[in-house]
Amino acid sequence: MWGGRFAVGPAKIMEEINASIDFDRKLAAQDIAGSLAHVAMLAQQGVVEAADAEAIARGLNEVKGEIEAGTFTFSRALEDIHMNVESRLAEIVGPAAGRLHTARSRNDQVAVDFRLWVRDTIDALLLQVEGLQRALALRARDCAGMVMPGFTHLQSAQPVTFGHHLLAYVEMLGRDAGRFRDARVRLNECPLGAAALAGTSFPIDRAATATALGFDRPTANSLDSVADRDFALEALAAAAISATHLSRFAEEIVLWTTPQFGFVRLSDAFSTGSSIMPQKRNPDAAELVRGKTGRVVGALIGLLTVMKGLPLAYSKDMQEDKEGVFDALETLSLCLAAMTGMVEDLTPNPERMKAAAGSGYATATDLADWLVRTLKMPFREAHHVTGRIVALASERGAALESLTLADLQSVEKQITAEAFGVLGVERSVESRTSYGGTAPANVRAQAEAWLTRLGG
Ligand code: ARG
Repeated sequence: MWGGRFAVGPAKIMEEINASIDFDRKLAAQDIAGSLAHVAMLAQQGVVEAADAEAIARGLNEVKGEIEAGTFTFSRALEDIHMNVESRLAEIVGPAAGRLHTARSRNDQVAVDFRLWVRDTIDALLLQVEGLQRALALRARDCAGMVMPGFTHLQSAQPVTFGHHLLAYVEMLGRDAGRFRDARVRLNECPLGAAALAGTSFPIDRAATATALGFDRPTANSLDSVADRDFALEALAAAAISATHLSRFAEEIVLWTTPQFGFVRLSDAFSTGSSIMPQKRNPDAAELVRGKTGRVVGALIGLLTVMKGLPLAYSKDMQEDKEGVFDALETLSLCLAAMTGMVEDLTPNPERMKAAAGSGYATATDLADWLVRTLKMPFREAHHVTGRIVALASERGAALESLTLADLQSVEKQITAEAFGVLGVERSVESRTSYGGTAPANVRAQAEAWLTRLGG
């Protein structure tokens, strides 16, 4: 493809380090779509004769058929997907194939192919994110009143409901989807026609190819078009954040499925056994989601590092942009599917959750609030009084509600029997009616709102 100036072919090791076909063959469909749009535009503009353009288009569709059928032979000697396709095109249609690369370079070609791939993948990921949100919101609606401990520092803090906890992830995933959508908006400009870096002297119509490929408009600067990969970085950043959310949820599933917590159970379909310890039910899928997050975050750091020192415009370093992006976005897709599977599979254990919610003096704040409301005590003083009551209960190894009224009054004599009313965990969650709070009625309404928003 570029042999004119060269007397001998590349060294074996040169070919090995240079070839990207082993991974960029994934861009085959996008490469052919880009070429079809390009040649149609060239014909329309009179740059290529209609008969040649038709032959090229026919040949490209044949190549596409061969790749889809698995009969195409990829060659490392032909370096990348662009040259593999073009070389086969030449075999099929003859010298006319040589007209396809008019007013184009592999630099704008790869930029357009990669944008198309990332765009398609973002669209697929968005559907998966919404699928997981829907699974969570359905569960949340069912479990809107199921009391569980809420934690800070992984210490019992205040009772919440399981539905409320799940909806926290629905919110996070909603922002993840927003980040992918935002990235897609900025990605959706077409670099085709920037050529190598400076544009072209041919009378091309960049708006036409942009429209044909579903872009909003052509990119405005030819150097920028071939030099930047921020569209890929943004997708990776969104993926890294989303994977981090999934990883935290996965970690909670790992905790919740332990015999010590026992909050949820995964069925046999989502558990694995041990080859030595017959009693084990391991949550491997959740652990793998947590572990694979490292790869997704690593891909972001990897590409940032590739790009950070590159002078404009294209450098071959940028061929290193693809594997990490392919791997990271496909890994996120797998993790989203696994999390959706686990959310649909898991069985909560309301008794275990409720018992845990009541332990650890989790309603101490409710007692302090009662002192503020009923005895008009300043909150700081109420905090102190409650702290002394908790210390008393703790000395006796007893729960707050098993103290007697005399016990409470030994700390603060104005306390009445009414105070016992706020010590139950159900009463506690029902009282959290502030906007966004854990009251079951709030949770039910939020779950319904999400289900309406998500549709389906
Ligand atoms: N395989 C190359 C890549 O992935 C295509 C662009 C090659 N351009 C060049 N000037 N060598 O980036």
